[in-house]
Amino acid sequence: TIAFLNGEFMPLSEAKISPMDRGFLFGDGIYEVIPTYHGKAVGMTGHLSRMRDGLAAISITNPYNAQQWQQNLNGLIDANASHFPNGNIGVYFHISRGTDTKRYHAYPQNITPTVFGFAFEIAPSQPLEAANVKPFKVALEEDKRWQRCHIKSTSLLGNVMHFQAGVDSGVQETILHNSDGIITEASSCNVFMVKDNAIFTPPLDNQLLPGITRQIALEAFKRAGLAVEEKWFTKEDLFNADEVWLTSSSKEIAPVIEVDGKTIGSGEVGPMWEKAIKAYHNYKF
Ligand code: PDD
Repeated sequence: TIAFLNGEFMPLSEAKISPMDRGFLFGDGIYEVIPTYHGKAVGMTGHLSRMRDGLAAISITNPYNAQQWQQNLNGLIDANASHFPNGNIGVYFHISRGTDTKRYHAYPQNITPTVFGFAFEIAPSQPLEAANVKPFKVALEEDKRWQRCHIKSTSLLGNVMHFQAGVDSGVQETILHNSDGIITEASSCNVFMVKDNAIFTPPLDNQLLPGITRQIALEAFKRAGLAVEEKWFTKEDLFNADEVWLTSSSKEIAPVIEVDGKTIGSGEVGPMWEKAIKAYHNYKF
């Protein structure tokens, strides 16, 4: 496949960066994953504004404006279209602070950010019928990451360890709660729950990523007239929910039927999920 590195397109196998890159040494950078279906990106404005916020938070000058980012994205999609003929392409962009000559924690002055992008195949848009979607089972752990989870940092060891704990226990994701037992997000997704036909998701703060899928879903649900509220809920609320969903750019809205070995609701994909995925599909472009 074809990658993007510092303004140029090249075979992924030829894209090379220095081991002195601060992305490698410190995880000093931010990233985005943008889903595209048949050449159309979902939530590009949101992804670019979250990227801008993340870069500002860590004092890296955004190397490109919105139009240039769109060109970079289009370039990757076009260059890789023949590799992914089904047309479902995820685009990854990574901006690190750049390569230094020494390893020193403080931000160096006058280094150029490293910009890397590549394309990969993602699952097709989700089916609209509960019978055709593959539900998730997830683990539940106390969040042991850091207190800046709103930044889409490339320092993902905390997320990786939480995700792996789920995989080690035979499930596909790990939902996280804080030390007060409040649900925040999952290791690579946001979390929604349904109780008595109302949809809930935690409000935004430093404990969770402002997911673009989450944002689009909230707008789509409101547009469709579904009852939806940004509100904190607890582990107990989650276990007693009628339905639980995960959202992310690569998963859209994924139904969860088991948390920490306990069955959620009826143990089957619920009727609200069907309403939600229909609303999302009607709205996402
Ligand atoms: N994960 N929370 C975390 C910790 C995430 O890593 C992600 C995304 C989300 C959902 O955000 P969005 O809807 O913008 O994708 C929430 C990406 C896809 C990843 O790391 O691969």
